[in-house]
Amino acid sequence: MVTRSNDTEFPFRQDSDLLYLTGFDHPDAVAVLRTEGGPAFTLFVQPRQREAETWTGRRPGVEGATAEYGADEAHPVDALHKELPEILKSARRIYHVLGRDADLDRKIVEILEDLRRRSRIGLEPASEIVDPRSIVHEMRLIKSPEELDIMRRGQEITRDAHREAARLAQPGRNERELEAVLDYTFRRQGGSGPAYTSIVGGGVNATILHYVTNDQELRAGEMVLIDGAAEYQGYASDVTRTYPIGGRFQGPCRAVYEAVLAAQDAAVAACTPGTTLEEVHQLAVRVLVEGMVGCELLSGTVDDLVAAEAYKPFYMHRTSHWLGLDVHDVGSYSQDGKPRPLEPGMVLTVEPGIYVAEDDEKADERFRGIGVRIEDDVLITTDGHEVLSAEIPKRLDEVEAWVSSG
Ligand code: GLY
Ligand code: MN
Ligand code: MN
Repeated sequence: MVTRSNDTEFPFRQDSDLLYLTGFDHPDAVAVLRTEGGPAFTLFVQPRQREAETWTGRRPGVEGATAEYGADEAHPVDALHKELPEILKSARRIYHVLGRDADLDRKIVEILEDLRRRSRIGLEPASEIVDPRSIVHEMRLIKSPEELDIMRRGQEITRDAHREAARLAQPGRNERELEAVLDYTFRRQGGSGPAYTSIVGGGVNATILHYVTNDQELRAGEMVLIDGAAEYQGYASDVTRTYPIGGRFQGPCRAVYEAVLAAQDAAVAACTPGTTLEEVHQLAVRVLVEGMVGCELLSGTVDDLVAAEAYKPFYMHRTSHWLGLDVHDVGSYSQDGKPRPLEPGMVLTVEPGIYVAEDDEKADERFRGIGVRIEDDVLITTDGHEVLSAEIPKRLDEVEAWVSSG
């Protein structure tokens, strides 16, 4: 448990790799997976203990680890160091993340040294300790049908939360009311809460990329950017919409929104097996720059402006990241030093934006303090893609209708 303040702790969140491999969602657990020389799946867990459970909640215990989580064998976690010599005796290769638990690292090294000393009596220590993460993270990058079912449910919850928050995008409402209704909807519908701290930025606050203060009043004629999405059964959604406060996109807000939407549409359309995230990003940049020229935020030729990175003051982040058990999910972004091609089963975000700082004297005054991002979650399929967050509107009239229903 991690201390938040004094003797108050942050809520427990399982390590995503352990959750992926075992489904076990309780603290102080160790999983041992073996291909030979013992049961395939052993869990070491906190044992049942009446008094402790009175304070901190129910534990599945050793019995639950086998009955509920499908372990072939389970032991109290305190027995790990005692059981390890037997477990490691016949291992030829050990997959273990070094550097997380110094005591466990030392114990494993000690056991291997001991086996080496006793090699005369026919024992052979493992010759390698391999980091399992490269393997597990490649597995996590390609989502199974079961994982996608969970992610789809998370998207439904996120859609309903956005719909409720959009209705509150009205002058005089406070950003914190919108955040509260997001949280309420996430939890009420069975999510564990937000997948990351929600961003609810009205007006100029939308130009602060990681704005999480969420405590200002919404003003007529401005927009509110909501980057908020549910965590459901451990899986993250990650969706941004920018809503017109009061229900109508006006003047420069409309122009910037249209520019971002055109870039987002083009980037989503490019998501298909074989394309790379770098290509998706470059396409988003090009269409954004076209939009910036179209609305006179930039002047010059698109080619020159792209080459000179003239868009960077207004678009300073990347367009995509992997999505899964972690919001910025695992899995490498390159192969052999080059951007890797997209493959069916990958889930990624597409999230271009335009952010004009309120004190940017180089930008036309009309645009200062405007921020727009549109972010969808996209599954790569065998013949293209599926937008998992498609039910959250982004076309101007549909977005306006959502806000106006409030
Ligand atoms: N919400 C975090 C992100 O968009 O990457
Ligand atoms: Mn986001
Ligand atoms: Mn994102």
